This record gives sequence, C-alpha cells and structure tokens, in this order.
Amino acid sequence: MSATTLSFTHRFLPPTAPGRPPLLLLHGTGGDENDLIPLGQAAAPGAALLSPRGQVLEAGMPRFFRRLAEGVFDEADLRRRADDLAGFIAEAREAYGLPAPVALGFSNGANIAAALLLLHPQALAGAALLRAMVPLRAPPRPDLAGRRVLLLSGAMDPIVPAENGQRLAALLQGAGADVDHRTLPTGHGLSQADLTLVRGWLAAP
Ligand code: MLT
Repeated sequence: MSATTLSFTHRFLPPTAPGRPPLLLLHGTGGDENDLIPLGQAAAPGAALLSPRGQVLEAGMPRFFRRLAEGVFDEADLRRRADDLAGFIAEAREAYGLPAPVALGFSNGANIAAALLLLHPQALAGAALLRAMVPLRAPPRPDLAGRRVLLLSGAMDPIVPAENGQRLAALLQGAGADVDHRTLPTGHGLSQADLTLVRGWLAAP
C-alpha cells in the first residue's frame, strides 16, 4: 500500500535481510512508486526499499521535475525538486530508521538521482543510474569521494546520446566518485543485462 504521511506519496518495504543498504527507487516518466519495486527486490533481495512518486505531472504522467522538451530540462524546477526529494529522504530516514540509501533510478528517475549526487551529495550513499544524462548545464563540483556510481547507458538510446552519458561519467568521476560506466547493446528501455549488472554491483563491497 502507498503511504501519504511523508512529503512524497511513496512505498516503503522494510528490510528482511540485515546488512544491505536501503534502495531509493526512482521511476521513469509515467511510472509511479510501484514500478521499480520488482527490480529493487530482484537487484537487492532483502534490502529495504523506499520508492517515492514524482510530484510533477506531464500530461498526467508523473515525473520528478519539469522539462521544456525531451532532454531539455527546466533547471530551476529541477533544483527545487532535488531539494524536495533530499528533504523527503531525510524524513524517511528518520521515520523508518534508515542509513543513507543507494539510489536506483531509471530515465527521469536516474536524472534526478544524478542531480541529487551533484546538489545534495550527502543524501545518497551511492547510485545506480540507468539511462541517465547530464542533468545541469553548470553543475556544482561536490565532493563525491567514497560514493560508488554505476552508470548503464544504451548504445542505441534515442534519448541519451553516447557523448552525454560519457560526459556524465566524467563529471561524476571528476568529483571523486568511483564510477563504473557500461554501455549495453540496447536502447532506452531496460534489459536483463541491466538487472544482472545492478545486482552484481550492489553485491560488491
Ligand atoms: C527526462 O526528461 O528526464 C529524460 O528525457 C528521460 C525521460 O524521462 O524521457
């Protein structure tokens, strides 16, 4: 059941196995808090799952921030929504007694996760970014030392050009993150290879 008690409508599944960091699940455009639960369960069995619903509606489809066109972001809104999401993470950590989560974001959810890393580096312990792009034209240079980031791009992604994924990887690496960037022989949609790689990356120390 979805909860509406904190600042975002969300689902929270408590951990059933000790020792795994919680996952913050961030859906793509048109998804909701239910979408990535099966992926989270398969990627990190037993981990706590925290899954908010994006608060922007685009033609009725939930997203995490506004865009002006595909791949062209309303950066003022993105910054505000990243602040709101960081606030929700803090509320949820307090309410559910959680350490900092690792984000697992897809598409629009991966883009807000990348923005969180840049604007609120303390909010996340790390991030798996599936089909993410550079979220801000003039990003700050946070200290991401010690943060692990998995970036999975699609070689035939019509939304995220290869150069953009490479720029995001370089940006995060330049800020000190431990970045593993892979390009899969696929498009913008998720594949079985994404699950296999995320599961292996989450299980690695
Ligand atoms: C975005 O708007 O975040 C990206 O274009 C990905 C998408 O949601 O299509």
